Amino acid sequence: MWVERLGRTFMARVHDLDLSRPLAAAEFAAIDEAWFAHRVLCFPQQQLTEPQLMTFSSHFGPLEKHVLQDYHHAIYPEILMLSTIVEDGKPLGLADAGSYWHSDVSYKAKPSRASTLYGLEIPDDGGDTLFCDMVAAFDALLEQMKARLDGLQAAHNYHHRNRVLVDQKGIRRDLSAAQKAETPEILHPVVRTQPETGLKALFINPGFTVRIEGMAEPESTALLEELFAHCLQDRFCFRYKWKKGDVVAWDNAVTMHCATVLDLPAGSRRTMWRTIISGDVPI
Ligand code: OGA
Ligand code: MN
Repeated sequence: MWVERLGRTFMARVHDLDLSRPLAAAEFAAIDEAWFAHRVLCFPQQQLTEPQLMTFSSHFGPLEKHVLQDYHHAIYPEILMLSTIVEDGKPLGLADAGSYWHSDVSYKAKPSRASTLYGLEIPDDGGDTLFCDMVAAFDALLEQMKARLDGLQAAHNYHHRNRVLVDQKGIRRDLSAAQKAETPEILHPVVRTQPETGLKALFINPGFTVRIEGMAEPESTALLEELFAHCLQDRFCFRYKWKKGDVVAWDNAVTMHCATVLDLPAGSRRTMWRTIISGDVPI
């Protein structure tokens, strides 16, 4: 295998590695090295069964099931279906795929460490995934801002996001009482440290972060907007164009991402399998 950097500060393509077979310890060591160096890894030209994707994903940690059971794979609930296709009035997967900037499962006490996506059906044009390097974004902040953020916590709220999506496009349903109980609002540090590398990253996202704890509303909103505008500058972002058979795996602790599925023309077919790898309480 060999690794090709894609972006200015992050993102890499790992060539010549077949994820369908059991990987050797040395191969996993190389993947881990690339993981910490590039934060988002793309593995082209894969041909995987569900268990093969799950086995590969498990290298990064235990798999967990998404709170939206409606979109679990019928046989393997650890796989979440993303799909623009509706058959007999029933969506085959989560249709919007998360078309807003977010970090997966940041709304739980233990946000997901990593996610993988496997592209089964990819439209000829569009349906790209955007990624943002939150290490580079943190690094580029003025020392004054870094000092201001030191010790701050932010609230992450899944109910809020779901409500926006229900109201906005009617593409999501209201959460059930059980789903709400599973996702109470939670606080996380605004700046987190990746334990393995000591790298610091901003850990807030427009999708789920609703306020800075202990700050008056106008000040909190202004600070979040300023930070999001800073992060989403082109120099910290990368647009990933999919090919069928790509597996993309990313570190949710140090990146954000955004699907662009809502921009696709009606009738476009885009289908992915997704796994979520459990993480630890952010520090
Ligand atoms: C996800 C997600 C992005 C995409 O599955 O978590 O945000 O482009 N997907 O499908
Ligand atoms: Mn996501």
